[in-house]
Amino acid sequence: MHRIAFALLLACSAPVAFAQAQKAPAPAYEPSVGQEGKDVVWVPTPQVLVDKMLDMAKVTTKDFLMDLGSGDGRTVITAAKRGVRALGVEYNPDMVELSRRNAEKEGVAKLATFVKADLFETDFSKATVITMFLLPDINLQLRPKILDLKPGTRIVSNTFTMGEWIADDTQNVEKGCGSSWCTALLWIVPAKTAGTWQTPHGELVLKQQFQMLAGTLRTGGKTLALKGKVRGDEVSFTAGGREYRGRMNGSQLELR
Ligand SMILES: C[S@@+](CC[C@H](N)C(=O)[O-])C[C@H]1O[C@@H](n2cnc3c(N)ncnc32)[C@H](O)[C@@H]1O
Repeated sequence: MHRIAFALLLACSAPVAFAQAQKAPAPAYEPSVGQEGKDVVWVPTPQVLVDKMLDMAKVTTKDFLMDLGSGDGRTVITAAKRGVRALGVEYNPDMVELSRRNAEKEGVAKLATFVKADLFETDFSKATVITMFLLPDINLQLRPKILDLKPGTRIVSNTFTMGEWIADDTQNVEKGCGSSWCTALLWIVPAKTAGTWQTPHGELVLKQQFQMLAGTLRTGGKTLALKGKVRGDEVSFTAGGREYRGRMNGSQLELR
């Protein structure tokens, strides 16, 4: 009799147990360092370097930051904690979901958003700051698009360079960073200044390679060789031992 009752009890409780097993939440997605990505594997930027990258870009609440290949969302979330509106572009949908959960947990989901997209098909022309940890050849592929961004846009890369476009600033982090991925590079998109300009100081011929300027200034009956730099819209050069400064106002060079 007891055995029958026990069998009945077991038969009745089995569907409940099954239903409970069905309802158990799926284990949280755990990414693993080095996992495949579309064009680059996932390796997270050490948090101290994320902080350094944002410091170097001098982010403010007026900025709109985009992280190309945003991984677990750490750069976007850190920027959002500084009050910056930030968007992560990430191809792996699981990483996008993980980033959204991380942003929720950190209480910055309003400022830190994520999109599942291919960075090569993404319009980043609205960004005022771009962060990335990709690869040198990907940086090179993106370079023409980056050079067409609004002058003054800041680009910060973990470790990888932009070919012959030398960084405006390079900093290493030692404390709190492991043995690798501890270098941040900053570029400031230069205005396009090449050409011949009539200025109050004479005729100026500028040749530009990225942010570097060379050329001549015809002044006081002499043609002087010049060397200079463009930092966003700001132009500066030295000719005949004198320093000149100016700025690109749209397509016009205003030399002071
Ligand atoms: C080296 S991780 C950097 C992650 C994050 N930016 C960071 O610094 O911690 C590169 C990331 O780019 C993503 N990725 C690779 N190819 C991509 C593509 N074509 N479009 C968008 N994301 C991509 C990978 O899934 C990976 O999460």
